[in-house]
Amino acid sequence: AEQVTFYEAVGGEETFRRLVHRFYEGVAGDPVLRPLYPEEDLGPAEDRLRLFLVQYWGGPNTYSQERGHPRLRMRHAPFVIGAVERDAWLARMREAMDDLDLPEQLDAMLWNYFTMAAQSMVNAPS
Ligand code: HEM
Repeated sequence: AEQVTFYEAVGGEETFRRLVHRFYEGVAGDPVLRPLYPEEDLGPAEDRLRLFLVQYWGGPNTYSQERGHPRLRMRHAPFVIGAVERDAWLARMREAMDDLDLPEQLDAMLWNYFTMAAQSMVNAPS
């Protein structure tokens, strides 16, 4: 039987492009998150998050071709991420997900993943 990936089920690259673009619009206006990003142009960070998510959910593996093994916890080590930063990140992602208006079950899968992944990036006390 045909295996439909989560990536395909939510609408493929276009959906991840919209999600991550909306997320970084939120980051640009977020007083907790914006100062964490080292570059003035958020475009490259937007590309990296989109390519990572596309790969994670079963789409093309361009992320690893360009960046190697994700090692996300290690890549976040330079940034102080406590509960405040985690919650700000999740709030901006929730807004971006609300705009997608995914079917309930797909929304729940994606949101569960983000809440667990964001917790695993915490590297500082609150
Ligand atoms: C990179 C912050 C959670 C995925 C970054 C960067 C910052 C950051 C400042 C560097 C920007 C850049 O790429 O130039 C945070 C904060 C989080 C968080 C404050 C709060 C918990 C997450 C989560 C994911 C994620 C949950 C995945 C689901 C990524 C990816 C990169 C990245 C893929 C680029 C890694 C690379 O260099 O290839 N993040 N992040 N982040 N973040 Fe996060």
